[in-house]
Amino acid sequence: MKTKDHWENVYTNKSSEEVSWFQSHSTKSLELINTTDLSFSTSLIDVGGGASVLVDDLIKLGYSNLQVLDLSSAALKTAQERLGEASKRVKWIEADIIGNNLKALKIDLWHDRAVFHFLTKKVERQKYVHNLTHALNKNGHVIIATFADDGPKKCSGLEICRYNKDTLAAELGERFVLVSHHKETHNTPFHTKQNFIYCHFMKVESDY
Ligand SMILES: C[S@@+](CC[C@H](N)C(=O)[O-])C[C@H]1O[C@@H](n2cnc3c(N)ncnc32)[C@H](O)[C@@H]1O
Repeated sequence: MKTKDHWENVYTNKSSEEVSWFQSHSTKSLELINTTDLSFSTSLIDVGGGASVLVDDLIKLGYSNLQVLDLSSAALKTAQERLGEASKRVKWIEADIIGNNLKALKIDLWHDRAVFHFLTKKVERQKYVHNLTHALNKNGHVIIATFADDGPKKCSGLEICRYNKDTLAAELGERFVLVSHHKETHNTPFHTKQNFIYCHFMKVESDY
């Protein structure tokens, strides 16, 4: 099955609250976004945002330049319907994060929870980092959360790669400096535990 079909199936056949990655609030992500001290007009993208409520909380806090990108139109539709009128304040992008059409993005803060870890091939991770590097403004922030090296070996039934701060930093390369890292144990809706690592990076100045 193609990756897009997998995700369309998931979001068509399950409610957003019964998927293993469901959070009623993206508390750790919000904490880290808050530490950046960026203004509410900052350009923020949630890549692979799916039906996450992160965007709801960011709107409520006053962020006004928000984008959510996901491979699945069903996921984006769920989030849009939940938000109702407020969904008009968000730019929704149905796209593949490792696709070739992301160069027009001008982002100050890139957030990814549980997406990068699905990129099990080196060439996919290289494309992701290429897109991230081009999309992110100078001194931009990156928050990536993946399963930690003591986390589950699969997510949504798919193979994943697990990381610690050093292996994730190595994937991003020298253009990104690690600002902070945090472990989190996520409690799934079916009462299992998943260990995540959250890493906050900044893009160092370059002529890229
Ligand atoms: C495990 S879910 C996490 C969703 C959300 N970030 C959260 O924390 O609730 C992974 C999400 O990544 C999306 N996804 C997977 N591969 C992708 C890709 N190559 N490009 C864009 N989105 C992708 C899926 O559709 C899904 O919404």
